[in-house]
Amino acid sequence: MAFTTVDEDRPLRAVIVGAGFIGGQWAPELLARPDVRLVGWVDIDPERARARAAEVGLAGLPVSASLSEVLDGETPDFIVNCTVPEAHREVTVTALERGVSVLSEKPMAVTLEEARVMVAAADKAERLFAVSQNRRHLGALVAFTRTVAELGPLGMLTSEFFIPHHGADFLSGMAHPLLQDMAIHLFDAARMVSGADAVSVYCESFRPPWTWYPGACSATAIFEMTGGLRYTFAGSWSAPGLSTPWTGTWRAAGTRGAARWDGEGPATVEGPAGTALRSWPLPPDPFPDRQRFTGLAEHLAEFVDALRTGRPPQGDCHDNIRSLAMVTAALESARTGVRVPVPEGR
Ligand SMILES: NC(=O)c1ccc[n+]([C@@H]2O[C@H](COP(=O)([O-])OP(=O)(O)OC[C@H]3O[C@@H](n4cnc5c(N)ncnc54)[C@H](O)[C@@H]3O)[C@@H](O)[C@H]2O)c1
Repeated sequence: MAFTTVDEDRPLRAVIVGAGFIGGQWAPELLARPDVRLVGWVDIDPERARARAAEVGLAGLPVSASLSEVLDGETPDFIVNCTVPEAHREVTVTALERGVSVLSEKPMAVTLEEARVMVAAADKAERLFAVSQNRRHLGALVAFTRTVAELGPLGMLTSEFFIPHHGADFLSGMAHPLLQDMAIHLFDAARMVSGADAVSVYCESFRPPWTWYPGACSATAIFEMTGGLRYTFAGSWSAPGLSTPWTGTWRAAGTRGAARWDGEGPATVEGPAGTALRSWPLPPDPFPDRQRFTGLAEHLAEFVDALRTGRPPQGDCHDNIRSLAMVTAALESARTGVRVPVPEGR
């Protein structure tokens, strides 16, 4: 669906909503761009927003507990939704209904029903709504995706994700923190790497005896993808050792050969004798001159370009909802104990 671009020759005006961990990572990215101005910060705890603003040298920045107040007063072109997942729908729809575009942190929403309401709000308002899946911009994942394209039609794709994680407080309140918060990164990466969408899933989500999480922090899932590909996922946020990188470790098998990726460097490839397979090198870092949280600068660059040109960025809501559909279907399978279809997302 088309969205309205900003055609005036001036910096884009941005407001951050949510002043926790990731809000603090987005602020330097907005400030690093001469074509963007940070004009306000919203949090249900306005003192937290004030402190975050001071940390980046903006002690006088307008802050508020009320998104509506800041939308009225600062007339932003877009908000960056850095709130907890349960608040994503309310914050995003409030902005869209006021004609303000939204760059949101993952996951788009908690349920697919919520996400559909949000996508419909973007379409009705004719505003851009995109979700930042920062792993999509990781050079090593881009290289692995290019390498996998060398393998011909895929039959199998696997990923393992094992991290001993003590994250934000909201994770401890979730019944399935791995699936509800983290797994979308891996599922979205599986869609990126394979170019396929999920058709059905069987999933188990559970709590190993040693975990520190009250909820089910570990899961295994088998997805059938378009083209008959099987994507299998195994992961835990309570890894007792032998951690993987945050991008996981991966293996792909196609008609021309196989690729194995450690989640960091270039992939290892091997095919039948006489098959020439290329392992793609990591692309150069587009922002080599500063420390930053992976992928935010790249996503912001695509989002700003989209607002100027009308060219949809990666993570556009109409596409990203298919990654969320993998999460919600996996949760449904874990709840019912049977294989379930993955809705198309629309
Ligand atoms: N891409 C990544 O790698 C990555 C990493 C961390 C977090 N995240 C995502 O970012 C989001 C936030 O995570 P976090 O770790 O920063 O959480 P956090 O708990 O540190 O911060 C969330 C902030 O949102 C505020 N908030 C909650 N509801 C609000 C509302 N309705 N209006 C305004 N403010 C509200 C809270 O007061 C808090 O300050 C989550 O969706 C999470 O999944 C993504």
